[in-house]
Amino acid sequence: MDGEGKVDSHYVASNHQHYKRIYQWYEKLTDRIEKVHRYCSETFPDIAIGNFARNQERDETEHPEVFRYFGVGSGSGDSDIAILTQLSKRLPRIEATITEPSDKMIANFKLAISECGNDALQKIKFTWNQATIEEYMKMPQDTKFHCIFLCGVLAYFKDVDQVVQYLYSVLAENGTILIVTESGNETNIFYEVWYPGRFPSINEQIAIPDNVVASFERCGGKVRSSNLECILDGSTLVDEESESGSLLLDLLTGVVDCRKTAPPEFLRQFLDFISDSNVSFKQEGKFLLKNDRVLIIVQK
Ligand SMILES: C[S@@+](CC[C@H](N)C(=O)[O-])C[C@H]1O[C@@H](n2cnc3c(N)ncnc32)[C@H](O)[C@@H]1O
Repeated sequence: MDGEGKVDSHYVASNHQHYKRIYQWYEKLTDRIEKVHRYCSETFPDIAIGNFARNQERDETEHPEVFRYFGVGSGSGDSDIAILTQLSKRLPRIEATITEPSDKMIANFKLAISECGNDALQKIKFTWNQATIEEYMKMPQDTKFHCIFLCGVLAYFKDVDQVVQYLYSVLAENGTILIVTESGNETNIFYEVWYPGRFPSINEQIAIPDNVVASFERCGGKVRSSNLECILDGSTLVDEESESGSLLLDLLTGVVDCRKTAPPEFLRQFLDFISDSNVSFKQEGKFLLKNDRVLIIVQK
């Protein structure tokens, strides 16, 4: 779309205070956080343990092998904790390596573990790296992981293909990778508005799920992906007085105070685009947006 001009403001991605406020609202408007947590706690642990069990049968060792977990860009660890809680109930020995560039996030993750009141989780041996995955990849090591988990982090990588190759190289035989990321075409409002070049003033990035699947397949991985259907309530987007609508607009455009600072022409085009797109629909008086995530599972 040409002619809408650059949005003259600063970006949500670099304003952590504002992002926190937005995210608190976003959590109330979408069911995706709850659904991802449910998947992490009810479905994925069985898959990871099932694959790991094949190693145990093959090796028939007297002492069960340590289960090695790798969390990348774990943030405050909510989703990692959902997985690790279940794993820790069923596996006697777990070591978890976490790589996360934000010291604040790591502190939150540690706090969540200490406050969870779950003894099994507290027995996990954690190794914390305050580093991006790109920095981690340069550290010399020979650890192979039975489970690697990434949620909502692909878009931050400079070279997704290079990270994919690295992750596959550090995946143990019969190991499992779970990637939760923005789903693609016509199932996700973020994919639609952040698609490269669609709105030149939007600075956000997306990883194209099909490309990620193809990258793992080139490495030789067995890959399956599925959509986790999620809905975002966008009813307040058109209400100029609504705080929730304004913050949601900021999240979708990546621009702080977008309603006040963006050129009116941009706002009109942006909201028209959303209303006309296949990801929006009306139900029971609400204006709803598809907000699916894609679950990519890779096995070696
Ligand atoms: C949207 S948050 C997702 C956090 C968490 N995985 C979740 O699902 O709630 C993205 C996280 O990725 C981290 N991050 C950003 N760039 C990264 C990189 N290059 N390598 C690893 N993590 C990164 C950020 O610090 C942030 O905690």
